[in-house]
Amino acid sequence: MTRRPFSFLSIFAGTVAALSIAATLSMAFRYNAARRAAPSQAAPSKTSDQNSDVKPDGTARPTAQSWTGSPLEFEYANRDQTLRIQKVMDLLKIKRGSRVADVGAGGGWLSVRLARRVEASGLVYAQEILPKYTQFIAQRARREGFQNIRTILGTTDNPKLPANSLDAVVILNAYHEFDKPLAMLRQIRASMKAGARLGFIERDEPALRREAQEAYAKTGVIKRRLGERSDNNPATDDHRLAREIVQREAASAGFKAVKTVDLEAPFYVVVVQR
Ligand SMILES: C[S@@+](CC[C@H](N)C(=O)[O-])C[C@H]1O[C@@H](n2cnc3c(N)ncnc32)[C@H](O)[C@@H]1O
Repeated sequence: MTRRPFSFLSIFAGTVAALSIAATLSMAFRYNAARRAAPSQAAPSKTSDQNSDVKPDGTARPTAQSWTGSPLEFEYANRDQTLRIQKVMDLLKIKRGSRVADVGAGGGWLSVRLARRVEASGLVYAQEILPKYTQFIAQRARREGFQNIRTILGTTDNPKLPANSLDAVVILNAYHEFDKPLAMLRQIRASMKAGARLGFIERDEPALRREAQEAYAKTGVIKRRLGERSDNNPATDDHRLAREIVQREAASAGFKAVKTVDLEAPFYVVVVQR
């Protein structure tokens, strides 16, 4: 008689203990299962192989061989229309009195158009890494009577532009050649006033853009300059660059997106601002 309450209590206590152990085990199992599932939902991890061509400035793509041809190469007919260059200058808010830079100016095709737009009260920095082009532009400016063009010789990671002073910067058909694109963009940004705009004019096409998007979705990095035929011959080397790469690199250098506009195919302009 005296043992019945004791056995009832023992059974009750044993059941409660068993249930709480089962609940704890079930929680632990669910927690571990969730931890195992988590990596597939996170950003794609980067293996050391994928990062093997990341440059010191953080860019993970090879760049085109730098152009060294005639300074007159880009003076071809209809270039104003193909690049809709007056519209590009409007998008960049370039006007009379503006201080602007043409980075990677080559023979100065764009520098003289900028000089006409900003007029005598404005200033154009025609910037290059090769002295043969800055010398050509300086002579050209004298010959054509532009007193508002100044040449600047920079390096591949520093354009040597004056700090905090520019209203706009244009990089025409040159960004794909920049050996250290992010280092250049950070320096260019530092040369611009707050709110000043930067325009990249480059070439791409739908298949190249799809390739860029798919590669990024798969690996989380752009391993190579997509569409490249790397035969190291500047005459046949492919100088296209998907706009997504330009947009992404500009953002990582601290620029804010403004808009990307199609020019005459295959050209486009990506506009960003400090
Ligand atoms: C294809 S040319 C274009 C010239 C000019 N912008 C035009 O379209 O008429 C590219 C130019 O970019 C210059 N360049 C390449 N890397 C550069 C860099 N890191 N900084 C400045 N200029 C660079 C080259 O010297 C070359 O003159």
